[in-house]
Amino acid sequence: MKAVVYERTGPPDVLQVREVEMPSPKKGEVIVKVAFSGVNPTDWKLRSGLTALGPLQFPQVVPNQDGSGTITAVGEGVDPNRVGQRVWIWEAAHQRPSGTAQEFTALPSDHAQELPDGVSFEVGASVGVPALTAHRCLTLAENGPRILDKGALEGFTVLVHGGAGAVGHAAIQLAHWAGARVITTVSSPEKAALATAAGADHIVNYKTQDVTNEISAIAKNGVDIVLEVAPIKNLELDRVILRPNGTIAIYANDGDQLTIPIRASMAPNLNYRFIMLYTIPTEAKQHAITGVNKALRDDVLKVGEENGLPLHFFTLDQTREAHIAVEKGITGKVLIKVNDN
Ligand SMILES: NC(=O)c1ccc[n+]([C@@H]2O[C@H](COP(=O)([O-])OP(=O)(O)OC[C@H]3O[C@@H](n4cnc5c(N)ncnc54)[C@H](OP(=O)(O)O)[C@@H]3O)[C@@H](O)[C@H]2O)c1
Repeated sequence: MKAVVYERTGPPDVLQVREVEMPSPKKGEVIVKVAFSGVNPTDWKLRSGLTALGPLQFPQVVPNQDGSGTITAVGEGVDPNRVGQRVWIWEAAHQRPSGTAQEFTALPSDHAQELPDGVSFEVGASVGVPALTAHRCLTLAENGPRILDKGALEGFTVLVHGGAGAVGHAAIQLAHWAGARVITTVSSPEKAALATAAGADHIVNYKTQDVTNEISAIAKNGVDIVLEVAPIKNLELDRVILRPNGTIAIYANDGDQLTIPIRASMAPNLNYRFIMLYTIPTEAKQHAITGVNKALRDDVLKVGEENGLPLHFFTLDQTREAHIAVEKGITGKVLIKVNDN
């Protein structure tokens, strides 16, 4: 079968298309015939060596954590009825060499979650990193839910920075479904339209508007949770618009060092939370998977169509180009079409 592999970290051309052996399932594993491999910033960062802690952990790595497809075989201990099930894939290549940029991939059974009837493979390949991260951020409020569901965030006001980003967009969809009032920041009218379609109640253009004043006027009692993609740039405004005991969920970095004013954060008991999806507690990961599955069943996580992020399709042979598109910050979801399932 065909697989994309890399044997050293580096620029996109370390990615090579190879003929490799078909995987067979070990105990507790499933084999998935991949329909789409979803690309996220983490995939090019891992490939480039930007986030690797040293040399590659394995002699050869197939990139990309997210994906979707159909289970074709199961290993010992896995319900044989899973064969034929349509699934979405999370963390295929975390501490494992075998991501989704290949025709078939072997995974621990729980990394392949059932995709509800009617939910497309395109959606399935878009939820792993973005929606699980958004779920974690949205469930960090002290007095808030740990698992999202319809209505679970009623009465909460959420600020999602970068509402047309993959994580931001998923966060708006989840928060809106959960009943929160959603404010988002964007940098253009086109991104404002995408955020509105996802369910944002208030849009602030951070390039042309005074974000602090706008949000203070919208959320007179303050914001409960901020989802932060650019903490160095936004921390001061976040601090001002948060209500006492409010939470800033920081899931990305826009530099190395963050300066936090101590007394001004202490007085209102602000919560600064940092998120790295790979290493959140196991229970929180399970909660996120449960919440995302509920949202999928309620058909709230959209991509493409008129209310989802635009889709950009590549072939397995174009995996380098797919990584480059994500690295350049393309608006929308980058999907590699692997098989016609
Ligand atoms: N810690 C984790 O576990 C975790 C999980 C997922 C993602 N991440 C990281 O989170 C980042 C975003 O991931 P993604 O997949 O959502 O990427 P993406 O689709 O490229 O979205 C990033 C968004 O952030 C917006 N943005 C940039 N600067 C901003 C600012 N100052 N204020 C408001 N919005 C701003 C961008 O739009 P404009 O530039 O037009 O504003 C863009 O829409 C990446 O660095 C990724 O590696 C981390």
